[in-house]
Amino acid sequence: MTAHPGSERQPDGAAGRGPAVRAVDLQKTYPASGPRPEVAAVQGIDLDVPRGEFFGLLGPNGAGKSTTIGMLTTLVVPTGGSASVCGLDVVKDAVEIKRRIGVVSQNNTLDSDLTAAENLEFRGRFFGLSARDARRRADELIELFGLAEHRKGNPFEMSGGQAKRVMICRALMHGPEVLFLDEPTAGLDPQTRTNLWDVLRGLQQGGQTIVLTTHYMEEAEALCERVAVVDHGKVLASGQVDELKRTAGADTVITVTYDAPAPSEIKALADRAAITRVEVEGAQVRVFAREPDDVLGELVAAGAAAGVGITDASQLRPSLETVFLSLTGREYRD
Ligand SMILES: Nc1ncnc2c1ncn2[C@@H]1O[C@H](COP(=O)(O)OP(=O)(O)OP(=O)(O)O)[C@@H](O)[C@H]1O
Ligand SMILES: [Mg+2]
Repeated sequence: MTAHPGSERQPDGAAGRGPAVRAVDLQKTYPASGPRPEVAAVQGIDLDVPRGEFFGLLGPNGAGKSTTIGMLTTLVVPTGGSASVCGLDVVKDAVEIKRRIGVVSQNNTLDSDLTAAENLEFRGRFFGLSARDARRRADELIELFGLAEHRKGNPFEMSGGQAKRVMICRALMHGPEVLFLDEPTAGLDPQTRTNLWDVLRGLQQGGQTIVLTTHYMEEAEALCERVAVVDHGKVLASGQVDELKRTAGADTVITVTYDAPAPSEIKALADRAAITRVEVEGAQVRVFAREPDDVLGELVAAGAAAGVGITDASQLRPSLETVFLSLTGREYRD
């Protein structure tokens, strides 16, 4: 895919000329309901996404990603702070924002009474296209997304990857300025996932601004120009993936578990220039090292000298995973 029809559309009104997304101290607390206490799902998030960018919100389950996307797409009302999309306020200008964005949710929300093509045309008509234009636009997108064989298919008889493509097409029917995708590849097999990555890259190369959420680190690394790493409703770090790796997680992380409390001499490793940090918790030692080559050998030797063995050892090369570890002290589980 090279071009994306409709991406040439530019905002017109002055109020619509802002960055794709801006959030300032954005918050959402869901009220208590019955026995369930209130949930501070988003606790003051700042975001700035210029137009044309491919931006990712990356975080583990329950981090607050869907709630954040919900607020940016005007479906969830913030309880604090503010946010704008294309310079329009998510609360005051919700109707105008809906006209300018496309949203692809995690679950299949296609209409099962309509074929794939009809789903697209119906959406086009909803956004005011003539029947002819809606059909033409649907045809263009079906072609572009390799869905020609499925145009008359029932959206619930398609594979997950095909249905997701139809949903993306539907979200693009009105040429949205910003495309939001919530976990676009969750539950898809690896090959379908990488196919979908190609589709999304193609869209961005055609000028489409894309904001996605994902709990897959490799997805954020593969696609996003910039990411915000979120956890517990807060942004832990944001920036270009490479930049994040340099600043927050440039280290290789070596984790070793001994069969007894870790030898106390190990803490002295932290004095070395090549070692950023040493964390000891009971039998587990975690070393953040700029130069990891000798570290494991030394941990084994220190154990042997103190008469303790090693039951488990792992080494993580610098990645978003080590960024997360260094920021939270916890391993990233998705
Ligand atoms: N409608 C709601 N009412 C009450 N609590 C909610 C609601 N929606 C989400 N939450 C809670 O808010 C927190 C953040 O949820 P959210 O769905 O935004 O996270 P997420 O990062 O999208 O997670 P996942 O990766 O599982 O999709 C969670 O603790 C969740 O249980
Ligand atoms: Mg979610």
